[in-house]
Formats: sequence, structure tokens, C-alpha cells
Amino acid sequence: MKPHTTWLIANWKMNGTAAEVRDYAQAVEQALVAAPHTLACVYCPPTPYLSQAASALPTTARLKLGGQTCHAASKGAFTGEVSAAMLKDVGCTAVIVGHSERRAAGETDAAVLGNARAAVDAGLMPIICVGESLAEYEAGNTAAVLASQLRSLAELANGSYIIAYEPVWAIGSGKTPTCGEIEAAHATIKTVLGSQTSVLYGGSVNAGNVREILDSSGVSGVLIGSASLSISGMQNIIIAACG
Ligand code: PGA
Repeated sequence: MKPHTTWLIANWKMNGTAAEVRDYAQAVEQALVAAPHTLACVYCPPTPYLSQAASALPTTARLKLGGQTCHAASKGAFTGEVSAAMLKDVGCTAVIVGHSERRAAGETDAAVLGNARAAVDAGLMPIICVGESLAEYEAGNTAAVLASQLRSLAELANGSYIIAYEPVWAIGSGKTPTCGEIEAAHATIKTVLGSQTSVLYGGSVNAGNVREILDSSGVSGVLIGSASLSISGMQNIIIAACG
């Protein structure tokens, strides 16, 4: 059986400078050199800095690059947007789509599907974010919310995308679900999309909790926001993930 990949996705959101992106890419690449090849690390800096990150890395780098969103269309009159082909052109292999911060700004399930489809068509791996709000969690509706967010994704080819389960209330809050809750959500996602689907967890992941989360059943990796912003933070997460 093929050893399964563990994904570490570093989402910088709207943070950093060109110089910080270059230094970070080089330092994280160094940290990955000794890591097992089953560890796949994707760095998602702000779009304007993707080229800088790409030029700071050797073409054979272990550290891969990802966008933070892409548009459903391949080109056209969409001011401020970025196409999946453009991300591919500057060296990306993946792109986050449907992050809750974008859903909060109006992105619907249908739009998320369109963006994911565009990513697949351009040869990128979409990392599709889903997750319930605090009110939905407290009402015990997590499984129903996930099923409804995932329904339309079944049309995408198996293996062409990754799901990131990110409870909205866990993002940037320092709170995480219990491992049992993470396992239950991952099981729900695999029931809807198939047991082979790679499912990551995201929301207040750090060097202290990443090992326990990665050891949870059905978890194929993590999406990290704030704890990925510093070089030392990411180095410690890589060390913990390898341990
Ligand atoms: P956080 O962000 O790690 O800061 O909670 C995660 C995310 O938004 O994907």
C-alpha cells in the first residue's frame, strides 16, 4: 500500500512583506530537507508575493506553493481577481478555496464549487474548506452543515481535491474541537465524498497540538493560520509532525 501523505498547509492570509516571504520560504525549505517524503508542505503567501517565494526556492524544492483563492473563470473582466492558470503560471501546485473568511464575505457553495473546478482544470489541487459556525456547532448541526456544503462537490473527480475541515469558531480563537469531534467530522466528510478523500483539519493548530490532531483517525494533515506565520512556529510544527 502507498504510504499516505501528511499535508501541512501554511496560510499566511493578508500578512507579511516580500522580504519576509523570501526568508520564510528558504528557512521552511531547509526545515523540510530532512523530513520524510510523505510530508507535503504547501506555503500560501499573499498573491503578490508568490513570485518572490518561487524565486527564493530551487525548482526541486520540497516546499510547494499555493494560492489563497482563485476565480471560477479562466480570464476576463474580473477586477482584482486571480485565475487558477495565473497561480499555476507563477509556480503554484495548489490553491485554498472556500475559506470561511471568504464565505463570510459572500462566497456561496456554488461559487466554491466553480472555483474548485477551475483549479482542477488548471492542474492545481484545490484545498476546499468547509466547517460549521459556532451557532451550528452549539445546536449539534455540524454533520448536517458539512453534508450540505459538500453535496455539490461530489461531481469533482476523486483524488483531484482535498477537503479542509475548519470549524469557523476554531479559526484564530485558540479553541479546538476534541479529537473525538474532529474524528466524527472527518468520518462525516468521508461518508459523503468517499473514504479515499484526503481530509485535513484547520483551526488554531499549533506546534503543541499538531501531533495529537495528526494522530486522530481520518486526519490527513492540517491547515495552519497564525501559528504558521513565524519561521520558528512553522519549524516547530514540522518537527512535531515528523515526530
Ligand atoms: P488559525 O487559522 O490557525 O489562525 O486558526 C486557520 C485558518 O484560517 O485556516
